[in-house]
Amino acid sequence: MQGTLALSWRILANKSFSSSSMTPLVCLDRPDIWCPAPSPSEVSSHLTHDYNEHTAAEINGRSIANEIKATLATQVSNMKNSINKVPGLGVILVGKRKDSRTFVRIKKKACEQVGIASVVTELPDDCTESEVLDAVSMLNHNESIHGILVQLPLPNHLCEEKIINSVKVEKDVDGFHPVNMGNLAMRGREPLFIPCASLGCIEVLNRCSVEILGKKAVVIGRSMITGLPTSLLLQRHHATVSVVHSFTKNPEEITCEADILVSDVGVPNLVRSHWLKPGVVVIDMGSTLVKNSSDVCGDVCYEEAMHKASAITPVPGGVGPVTISMLLSNTLEAAKRAYQWTQKS
Ligand code: GUN
Repeated sequence: MQGTLALSWRILANKSFSSSSMTPLVCLDRPDIWCPAPSPSEVSSHLTHDYNEHTAAEINGRSIANEIKATLATQVSNMKNSINKVPGLGVILVGKRKDSRTFVRIKKKACEQVGIASVVTELPDDCTESEVLDAVSMLNHNESIHGILVQLPLPNHLCEEKIINSVKVEKDVDGFHPVNMGNLAMRGREPLFIPCASLGCIEVLNRCSVEILGKKAVVIGRSMITGLPTSLLLQRHHATVSVVHSFTKNPEEITCEADILVSDVGVPNLVRSHWLKPGVVVIDMGSTLVKNSSDVCGDVCYEEAMHKASAITPVPGGVGPVTISMLLSNTLEAAKRAYQWTQKS
């Protein structure tokens, strides 16, 4: 078992493989030709349910993330007490994008909360590719850094592929290195790290006791950060997975069959009531900044989905905080491997 948390996909894997007005918050690799959705006319302990009329249970991602962070903080403290080492995360931030800066600030704060050391290398928008590669190389060679994250998207003049490939596989806590992504895709192989958003999605489903095995799951979007790895991870959990993207004809005919619907395309309110099967579990990973505001909006029309779904993650406060806690978990795991340290129970 490699995961710091009891990430059940590994257990399952072992069993069966045996051995307009909105600015996208994250636009990396997202299809940009989705038609903006029309705005809607009116428009466990982690679940809040209103029983007065049919409303979905709201999944409280913040409380899940807090539970995970408490576990991680204990483990980090035990590591410190036992070998006088703490996990270290190195983040590379290129440019002044407001969304990327916000993400990095949140990640840094989350590290502090659990006792993980973090360093942020900031580079200007017009930096050269070799400056970024040098920054990665420094972190690759730094023994107190166990996890490396290059915040995406990068400015267009930089080759994302080359930069991601330069991160040491053993420190690739984002799970974007082709070796990790490839192993995730291949039956019977174990990636060292799985992308945090995908882990966050599965963690939410597990903690809310949503069965995945044998269910129909539809993933909207095929980005490297979310859609692609989430579709792969759901398959590892034995869901029957369909991927819907910007070239899919009549996507609602596919989504309305889903028992579990995951979306991350950055189109506010794309998913309307008629896209949903009654009782579906909705994991909304979309997060779009509303122009001239600090509000964020998900891909799913929450007000409509509330009356159709059995459970739904809100935006904000849904799967986002859990995704951040998965980054912390991956970083702790990287440090445990580097020091060959295991928690004694
Ligand atoms: N940009 C948006 N989400 C992510 C993420 O999970 N990792 C990195 N590196 N960049 C991102």
